[in-house]
Amino acid sequence: MAPIPSHVLTFALPSIILVALCSLSDCYDPLDPNGNITVTFDIHQYTSDGYVARVTIQNYYQYRHVDKPGWTLGWTWEGNEVIWSMSGAFATQQGNCWAFKTPAHCCNKDPVILDLMPEALPENRSEDCCRGGLLSAWAINPSKSFSSFEITVGNLGENSTWFPPQNLTLMEPGPGYTCGQVLDTDPTVSSDLGGRRQVQVYRTWRSTCTYSSFLANKTPMCCASLSTFYSPTITSCPKCSCGCREAADKRTGFCISDSNLLSKKANTPDIVQCTDHMCPVGVHWHIKNNYMNQWRVKLTISNYNYQRNFSDWNVLVQHPGFSQTATAYSFNSTILPTVGFGDEVALLWGIEYYNTELLNFDGDQLGSVTTEILLDKDADTFTLSNGWAFPPRIYFNGENCEMALPDTFPVLPNGSPSLRSTYCQILSVFFTFITLWLLGFYQ
Ligand SMILES: *[C@@H]1O[C@H](CO)[C@@H](O)[C@H](O)[C@H]1NC(C)=O
Ligand SMILES: *[C@@H]1O[C@H](CO)[C@@H](O)[C@H](O)[C@H]1NC(C)=O
Ligand SMILES: *[C@@H]1O[C@H](CO)[C@@H](O)[C@H](O)[C@H]1NC(C)=O
Ligand SMILES: *[C@@H]1O[C@H](CO)[C@@H](O)[C@H](O)[C@H]1NC(C)=O
Ligand SMILES: *[C@@H]1O[C@H](CO)[C@@H](O)[C@H](O)[C@H]1NC(C)=O
Ligand SMILES: *[C@@H]1O[C@H](CO)[C@@H](O)[C@H](O)[C@H]1NC(C)=O
Repeated sequence: MAPIPSHVLTFALPSIILVALCSLSDCYDPLDPNGNITVTFDIHQYTSDGYVARVTIQNYYQYRHVDKPGWTLGWTWEGNEVIWSMSGAFATQQGNCWAFKTPAHCCNKDPVILDLMPEALPENRSEDCCRGGLLSAWAINPSKSFSSFEITVGNLGENSTWFPPQNLTLMEPGPGYTCGQVLDTDPTVSSDLGGRRQVQVYRTWRSTCTYSSFLANKTPMCCASLSTFYSPTITSCPKCSCGCREAADKRTGFCISDSNLLSKKANTPDIVQCTDHMCPVGVHWHIKNNYMNQWRVKLTISNYNYQRNFSDWNVLVQHPGFSQTATAYSFNSTILPTVGFGDEVALLWGIEYYNTELLNFDGDQLGSVTTEILLDKDADTFTLSNGWAFPPRIYFNGENCEMALPDTFPVLPNGSPSLRSTYCQILSVFFTFITLWLLGFYQ
């Protein structure tokens, strides 16, 4: 048996390692190992019975954003704390404030906080607030990856100890995030006087929340299909990638094949078009051209939902080809730092006012966004054989896209360079034989 070419190993090994890591109960994402959402309480003012804190929720996930309807933050007070007032966000319930003579914003022991909408009144706002709970991904738009609000906390006895909030919870709004204990850390330092002076808050409490798809317990929401210019084979999404048609209405919502039926099930965002894969989103990788020094891929993302648009979508593609210069024509893109897994990782997202919105399926046409990507070739590694040109991993909005196994990938047709040389050998043997035979005949 021929030895396995090294590029097959570099293709297969990371996948094996990824699968191994993901079988651990807390499936952290090896492509974004430092990703987290950090919640910081900066106490910057004392009051007669408590303090004023600026709470900041910072999304450090490279390509996981908090989408509509936005985050929900909750905690439990250790003592008898009361939130006298709040700006930039609000507590969903005021709770029982009978014990207080002055009006309070929230007297519950376990307040639940939501963000204000961007159109909130100026008197309810605070600095960097009011994004409707949306947090952009860190690698895509750092300036919108955090959200802040102010709380005035009181009813702490004169010399009682201040306890940080306990049992912090972050929902988006579903489960998935687990927050660590809120700990006392070094006070946050910021610059003043145009950077000539440094000021710091009195006290900083911080907790880090991490996402686990295992905890979120979502059914897969994306699958990937593949095709090439050199083969009629299309490797479609694996059947039942995101559920099966027969079982569709039990768990994952509905699928309908005729949009006229839509009105009966109105306002269910998860109605998708009936397909064999049943995924709400499909990503298609088509190898379009093979030039002398470059190769071209067409990437299409399709939305099978009848009633859901994806705003600020992103797609992550892991492929060794991204170690060379790559240009995406209709998407914004960046190469993420790799973390020892070998293959480069490209992050792609929409261009503002052009295709940041992946529209819903309207009954006639799938909502889709598409781009062509032109990649330079590395003469040493580029090959169309052994599935090298297909990405081992694709994510949509941070969620893995299910993909068929490599044995179903399109293969090079007869006439590929290696086969051609075999034909040449056979032909030359044949002609040699004919020549010898003719020589023999004339003798
Ligand atoms: C959270 O993410 C930031 C930025 O990547 C990183 O500096 C920090 O160490 C992370 N925190 C934890 C606890 O992983
Ligand atoms: C926080 O959660 C732990 C474990 O569920 C519980 O024992 C503890 O009492 C909670 N703390 C507060 C302040 O509710
Ligand atoms: C906004 O401010 C007004 C007036 O200060 C107040 O009545 C209202 O409750 C506030 N709304 C929220 C959501 O905080
Ligand atoms: C606060 O501290 C002072 C002196 O340390 C003490 O006399 C007083 O009893 C304390 N008050 C409470 C409510 O603990
Ligand atoms: C999606 O966006 C389009 C265009 O902005 C809009 O017409 C449509 O109603 C939106 N669909 C949903 C489900 O919000
Ligand atoms: C690409 O994305 C960045 C960050 O979101 C943005 O600043 C930049 O304007 C975008 N470029 C285009 C062409 O949309």
